[in-house]
Amino acid sequence: MAERRDVVIIGAGAAGMMCAIAAGGRGRRVLVIDHARAPGEKIRISGGGRCNFTNIHAGPKNFLSANPHFCKSALARYTPRDFLDLVERHGIAWHEKTLGQLFCDRSAKDIIAMLLAEMAAAGAELRLSTPVAAIEHTGAGFRIVTEAGEIEAAALVIATGGKSIPKMGATGFAYRVAEQFGIPVVETRPALVPLTLDPATLAANEDLPGVAVDVAVRHGRTEFREAMLFTHRGLSGPAILQISSYWREGEEIAVAIRPDLDFASVFAAARRENGRQAVQTVLSEHMPKRLAQRLAADLGLDGPLAELSSRRLDALMHRLADWRMRPAGSEGYRTAEVTLGGVDTAALDSRTMAVKAVPGLHFIGEAVDVTGWLGGYNFQWAWASGRAAGESA
Ligand code: FDA
Repeated sequence: MAERRDVVIIGAGAAGMMCAIAAGGRGRRVLVIDHARAPGEKIRISGGGRCNFTNIHAGPKNFLSANPHFCKSALARYTPRDFLDLVERHGIAWHEKTLGQLFCDRSAKDIIAMLLAEMAAAGAELRLSTPVAAIEHTGAGFRIVTEAGEIEAAALVIATGGKSIPKMGATGFAYRVAEQFGIPVVETRPALVPLTLDPATLAANEDLPGVAVDVAVRHGRTEFREAMLFTHRGLSGPAILQISSYWREGEEIAVAIRPDLDFASVFAAARRENGRQAVQTVLSEHMPKRLAQRLAADLGLDGPLAELSSRRLDALMHRLADWRMRPAGSEGYRTAEVTLGGVDTAALDSRTMAVKAVPGLHFIGEAVDVTGWLGGYNFQWAWASGRAAGESA
């Protein structure tokens, strides 16, 4: 005889655990199944071990989706403030790092412990190291076939995340379930991921790996102002991770170095003070020396500032304001923080995350075609979509 539950949630990550808390809190008999040995592994490694658990500015504008309106309902009904209240009720110390990003003072493990305590209080059961062999649609709901036996449930929530970081157990399972039930999936691709450069550009950049600088990076009308890092494979740092969600193979990105500075005034003042100094000396007051040297060398600017023609100064200013780069590719799912695309929101009810055509089946979290910017937005989507499903499943 199969075990019976009201709600089975596959995936004990951020979204699945939040869903279990909400459904269990409504008196539903909830079982969460995960093939991993520990719950919330991505929470544990997130934010450099301190978990950037939300962003106080999170709103629909911070998410990419084929339907940008889909995320509105869930985000409005479970806000960053709601999650922060939970964090504070558990006495977890936190701080705002930058740009509204909230982190634990101590450890991301505090967030996992909080979610497990809330699940236990809600009576939700957790079964780890349990791979799911098959899902069958029955007249009354679903039969979940695992190596340890079968479970029948009226409601089934798929919370297995995306494809990023396969070595942590990411599987693409949600997309296979979608396919089984005839639900479309928006093409998936690695996002929030470092970009690579071709060998010739890397050779020209050989002195730059490790250099970080504040930039504005643009792709079309999208712009992010954060740090960029040169690496041995290409480009990384928050500005690049952000723009990677918008960039496509073959396209250019435009980088402005130190967009906070008016370089025309910088050079005019430097010329007045000491026209004998080299361009790279002036530049290196405002950026790492290796980058200043590379820029000066690229444009052949080796003489004193006072002897620089206005044409060559203009070329330098143009490079500083609009450095065009054409990445060769990305580092892929191996290092991507998230998966862009996923279960097509057109198939889902935005209030409940339920599949409109399959009563009782829900998709939540990263598995769905809603992808946040870097900075705590993806967890906020996991909490909000998990909550929305848990309030209805
Ligand atoms: P998540 O991936 O968390 O959970 C899915 C669960 O399903 C896992 O426990 C997995 O084991 C399980 N599972 C998968 N396949 C299964 C199968 N076939 N059978 C059973 N179980 C299965 N975001 C943010 O907002 N702030 C941050 O600081 C960071 N930092 C960060 C760092 C790094 C290195 C990464 C890779 C990602 C981040 N993120 C982040 C993104 C964030 O981690 C991500 O968006 C959420 O964890 C998504 O939550 P989900 O619950 O949807 O999936």
